[in-house]
Amino acid sequence: MTVTGLFRMHLLCWSLLASLGLRAQVNIIPQPANLQVSPGHFIIDKNTALQFRPDNSDLAAVAKYFVGYINRISGIRLPLNGKAGKYIHFGLTKTKGVGPEGYQLTVSPTAIHITAGSKEGVFYALQSLRQTLPAIRTNETLAVPCMKIIDSPRFTWRGFMLDVSRHYYSVDAIMEVIDLLALYKMNVLHWHLTDNEGWRLEIKKYPKLTNVGAFRNEMPGSIFYKKDSVPLTGTPYRYGGYYTQQQAKEVVAYAASRNITVIPEIEMPGHSGAALAAYPQFSCFGLAQPVPNSSTWNGHMDSAQLAVNYCAGNDSSFLFIQDILAEVMAIFPSTYIHIGGDEVDKSYWKKCPRCQKRIRDEGLHNENELQGYFINRVEKFLLANNKKLLGWDEILEGGIASSATVMSWRGEKGGIAAAKQHHDVIMSPSDPLYFNRYQADPLHEPLAARFSINTLERVYKYDPQPNALSTQEKQFIIGGQAAIWTEFISSVQQLEYMLLPRLPAIAETLWTPLDKKNFTGFVDRLNGWHFNAWQQNGINFHPAYFYRQANESSRK
Ligand code: ACM
Ligand code: ZN
Repeated sequence: MTVTGLFRMHLLCWSLLASLGLRAQVNIIPQPANLQVSPGHFIIDKNTALQFRPDNSDLAAVAKYFVGYINRISGIRLPLNGKAGKYIHFGLTKTKGVGPEGYQLTVSPTAIHITAGSKEGVFYALQSLRQTLPAIRTNETLAVPCMKIIDSPRFTWRGFMLDVSRHYYSVDAIMEVIDLLALYKMNVLHWHLTDNEGWRLEIKKYPKLTNVGAFRNEMPGSIFYKKDSVPLTGTPYRYGGYYTQQQAKEVVAYAASRNITVIPEIEMPGHSGAALAAYPQFSCFGLAQPVPNSSTWNGHMDSAQLAVNYCAGNDSSFLFIQDILAEVMAIFPSTYIHIGGDEVDKSYWKKCPRCQKRIRDEGLHNENELQGYFINRVEKFLLANNKKLLGWDEILEGGIASSATVMSWRGEKGGIAAAKQHHDVIMSPSDPLYFNRYQADPLHEPLAARFSINTLERVYKYDPQPNALSTQEKQFIIGGQAAIWTEFISSVQQLEYMLLPRLPAIAETLWTPLDKKNFTGFVDRLNGWHFNAWQQNGINFHPAYFYRQANESSRK
């Protein structure tokens, strides 16, 4: 046979294999930067061992995680570094063309090899493997398709923000969210711990922050933002909860073992109603007695004539905040501390003699500059403690130090301005990255925020690097973030519904090279593994793109 003939035969065999379905579809999300699938499988069974340098504790920890996963789905306990018929090797070596979080994964019928420059890379390789395996306890053969992956993320900041102030979520629920983030190679959980409607973190020096600030008088049937609806009747009940420092540390450790940094957000100077209900002396017009929180949007604050922002003219406010931040920094090892900074109602500062005196004494021109003074003063404290300040894009308005990082939520405007000033930027435009907003026609959806319809496709197609920036300025966009505010979300099931499948969409946007993204392919991969994996694990999700669901409902 001629060489061309051989080549034709070869092609024929390949297309035969493909048409017989022997070359498996690999459904990894985020889509790897480079993926080549070939025929055949590696079977994980009780004759398979993990092999790595046992003196490396990082690798040992990742191995333990993977052993736990395989045990959970199969009952098999993979031996570590023992004699075995075949091996899954992993090791740390810099691989050319693979960034600090990247990895190379090679699966052949006889072995799986993972190499990465860091423990993060090994962990991500294992997440890719997981998505080729069953998602629940099964008697199925654990067959990993033969393939070669060389993969690295596009952005270093791949974040998700969860608001636990409007509704409290248990530690278990937070850990479930962390597991989902880890599955999709996200690496930041931004934990919105304080707001007007509840303070959620134990602070030992100020026990009223949680004794008073973590609970509110909830009216049966209350719905946020519906101040003007029919007055609620019934007996209010105490509603809320908080995390002890010990629990918060457990969350931090659980996340760290899954390559996720927890960034705490302690809101200031606005959105601080729960703290000021507990310690009104730090607001502009403090009351002698703490006021109970109530369930309406800022309601108790307005009716008590109590500002929901700290008094910027009172030095004691800053000492109070510094004491809180000192305890926060002892719990959260993250480089960044998020101080909020959004939506400050400056009318209180306009009326407050102490705030006005501060403006005069510091030679400031207006309340915007007073906000700048406030943020700068807090930033100095954070920098002195080797922490970096992170805030919503309003922090740009009063002038900020160059070390501050800006999270752009009011569209991309703030992020673009900040990148032009060479601040690091995280893009989190509410449209389309707020997942508390509708994902489909509001007519058929549970109540959600109305401002835009953030469909799966719009989330998927979002690009965090706007064309308004030069190539050099684009480098200041360190990543992006989705967010869930929980005014309308009071259960874990509802949280899951708003999160999925939009979480994998943002994850792919933040990880996969632009030229490898493809919405149709993404939806096929969701259907190839992810919807089933969630369904089998009892995790709720929006079904619009679930083929089976769509087919079933069209038959009805
Ligand atoms: C925000 O949505 N107020 C940051
Ligand atoms: Zn004041």
